[in-house]
Amino acid sequence: MPTYNDALDEYVRQTFAGEGDALRRIRLGIEAAGLPAITIRPDEGRFLQFMVAATAAKLAVEIGTLGGYSGTWIASGLGDGGRLITLEQVPARAELAREHFRMAGVADRVELLVGDAHELLPKLSPAGPFDFVFIDAEKEGYQAYLDWTLDNLRPGGVLAAHNAFRGGAIVNPDGDEATRAIRQFNLRLARQPDLISTIYPAGDGMALAVKRPAA
Ligand code: DHB
Ligand code: MG
Repeated sequence: MPTYNDALDEYVRQTFAGEGDALRRIRLGIEAAGLPAITIRPDEGRFLQFMVAATAAKLAVEIGTLGGYSGTWIASGLGDGGRLITLEQVPARAELAREHFRMAGVADRVELLVGDAHELLPKLSPAGPFDFVFIDAEKEGYQAYLDWTLDNLRPGGVLAAHNAFRGGAIVNPDGDEATRAIRQFNLRLARQPDLISTIYPAGDGMALAVKRPAA
């Protein structure tokens, strides 16, 4: 029996992942700026927005802003008074993302911090605990980002991490360093007793975890 495939993926995208004018312009702006073509797809963005809204998240963190496309999806899922803190290492990307957040009308609810996330995150902890964390940065850092998330996500809070499939390489033997890092990350999510985890299989795979309430 066929299950999820490219035709169904396309159907979901066509039917549910309309991005609207601002998001479309942001996506095209990122392309035009020559940033690496690693922005999430519209259906992945819709999924992030859905998760943020479904969990009524008020305080979200994004690790890896790039050009602000995913951040705009996340920010637009937050309820009134919600806030997204997004971290970007590359100043030129941060500048473009700032412009994009303004264009989308979400700049008032987004705080963009520029620097190495490994250094910024510990300083962010006092602002938590956080309701939603999205990881989409260098894959070798995912383990450390998970450590931070386990300490700073509220019970009932949700973690989402992009590239859980590594373009399909996750099921091949070996793979490059980044693929091995994601494999370890996925395994840890699956085995961590205080998380309920899975992968949402759209796009490049969204690893997901919800933190169990304290026993
Ligand atoms: C890479 C990183 C990403 O976040 C992504 O979505 C695709 C590829 C990479 O570094 O190869
Ligand atoms: Mg990614």
